[in-house]
This record gives sequence, structure tokens and C-alpha cells, in this order.
Amino acid sequence: MTQPIIEMKDIVKFYGEVKAVDHLSLNIFHKEVFGLLGPNGAGKTTVVEILEGLRKADAGEISVLDQPVPEKLDRIKQKLGVQLQITDLPELIRVKELLVLFAGYYNHSLPVAQVLEMAGLTEKKQVYTKHLSGGQKQRLALALALINDPEILILDEPTTGLDPQARRNIWEIIKNWQKAGKTILLTTHYMEEAEQICDRVGIIDRGKIIALGTPEELIRKQNLATAIEFELSENAENFDEKLFPEIEEFYRQGQNITAFSREPQKILVELVRALDNGSLPIKQISLRKTSLEDVFLELTGRKIRD
Ligand SMILES: Nc1ncnc2c1ncn2[C@@H]1O[C@H](COP(=O)(O)OP(=O)(O)OP(=O)(O)O)[C@@H](O)[C@H]1O
Ligand SMILES: [Mg+2]
Repeated sequence: MTQPIIEMKDIVKFYGEVKAVDHLSLNIFHKEVFGLLGPNGAGKTTVVEILEGLRKADAGEISVLDQPVPEKLDRIKQKLGVQLQITDLPELIRVKELLVLFAGYYNHSLPVAQVLEMAGLTEKKQVYTKHLSGGQKQRLALALALINDPEILILDEPTTGLDPQARRNIWEIIKNWQKAGKTILLTTHYMEEAEQICDRVGIIDRGKIIALGTPEELIRKQNLATAIEFELSENAENFDEKLFPEIEEFYRQGQNITAFSREPQKILVELVRALDNGSLPIKQISLRKTSLEDVFLELTGRKIRD
């Protein structure tokens, strides 16, 4: 494998008694979109802020672009684009002016017009930042992180609180940035987001990486059962699961049944047969794909959000 662009070895961080990061090691490679995925308080922000030099690790080694952190941060920062979890934008300034101001902080920056275009903010360039919508503010925060043409873009929950369309807009900006040959590290607690845009994800829980790989690998590795949901035209209490030996677990609710199996194809065939010979009055059948959400539940026994 190629040399990692971000290398973290055995990182530990305490806040008083709280161990926020617990011997975490992680490599991130050139041109990947890497997602650090975990519930509230898992340690995501702490990890990325240690990388950005905003917090100091108690132990461990970090290198970014082959330079040690925090020793060489001044040099690294020129090539780093950062969007913090909580971004307070100055309010009495227009969108374009703010980008021009930020561009001035760096030795090298992209043309402001290009960044406005990438972030879909060209039409808003003369607007005061306080008049932007939530999604537009988030895009502006992202634009500010892109202004120095960073090799590595670090985004802490870039889409939290946004509606699906606004979220998709942000995903597109991130994917386009990757296409331009850059590396992106983002944190999220949206499983769907990780599945949609990340090449690899690390699931973090209580300061530890508990699973690492592509979303497909993680789902496959857990070898989870597929959920088969079907609705009957009568109450499901008469449903006899013994007729379907491949069902590992199932729940009844009114006329609905959710069954879990590692051999969903066989169950489907049996269900269709039962429908055909009139032994089971099925109204509809659907399969639910196993998701990262199921992987998290299997690994921790908890849901990522309550
Ligand atoms: N400045 C701080 N002082 C004390 N404890 C802190 C501080 N910052 C974070 N923590 C604690 O460290 C742990 C990790 O917090 P962190 O903010 O890194 O989690 P997170 O994964 O980013 O969570 P979220 O999804 O809510 O943003 C939590 O238990 C949190 O309460
Ligand atoms: Mg956080």
C-alpha cells in the first residue's frame, strides 16, 4: 500500500478522568474520503482537533504529509483545510469579502470566484453571511476550508442538522474535491452518509476504533442477517415460522412480520410458493439491505443514536 498521508499511532487523550481517545491508531491514504463514524461523545472531534493542532494528545505519534504534529504544524497548515464542528461565521460581512479575507491568510489560495462556484454560492456572493440559510452557511464554511487549495480537507460533521437536499449538495462538493485529487477526512454520525460518500470508514466508540474498512467490507464481515419484511392480509399471529427453517429470528406486529435470515433468497422462494398455493395471504414483501447501522448495533449492542 502507498504511504499514508495521515498517520496516527497509539494516540491517548484524557480530559481529567475521561479517556476521550484510547490508544487509537489510524492511517489515511492519498485521495480517499475517509469517514470517522461514531455516536455522540465517541471522540471524533477530539481526534480531528488533535490532528489540526487545536488540542494536544497525551501520548502517541502523529504525522501529516510526512511531517510530525504538532512540531511542524505551521508548514502543514498551509495544506490543510479545516471545518470545525461549530463554526461561528462573522455576521457583518458579505460572502465574497469573507472568502477574500481568508484567502489572505495563506501563501497560496484558489481564485475566490472558483471557490464560490464550487460551493454553489456565486449568486450569494454579495449577501451578508447572516442572511444565508443553514445549508448555505454550511457550504460557506466548506468554501472557507477550501480556499487555500488544501491537500487534506478535514470536516467535522459537515452535514449535521441539514435537510436531505442540502446534505446531498455538501456530498457533491466533497466528491468533486476528491476528484480534484485531494484527500478528505470527515466525521459523521450519519451511517447513510458514510455509506454514500466514504471509501473507507473507521467506526469509533469510546475513543477506540472498533471496525475499519470499506462500508461493504464492514457489512460483509459481520455476516449479518438480511431483514425480510412482509405484510399479510390477516393478523400475523397465525404465522407459523416453523414452515420456514431459514428464519433465524422474527417479529410480528399487527399484520406485519419482520424476519431475519442469512439465506433471504430461500425465504423469498418459500414465501412466493406459500402465496401461490394459498397457504399464506401475503400482500407485499420487501427486503431491507443490511446497513452500517446494523453493523454498529451488532458491534456495540447499542444504536448509534437513541
Ligand atoms: N474540553 C473538554 N473537556 C472535558 N471533556 C471533554 C472536552 N471535550 C470533549 N470532552 C469529552 O470527551 C469525550 C469525547 O468528546 P468528543 O467531542 O471528541 O466526541 P464526538 O465524537 O466529537 O461527539 P459528538 O458526536 O457529540 O460531536 C466525551 O466524553 C466528551 O464529553
Ligand atoms: Mg464532535
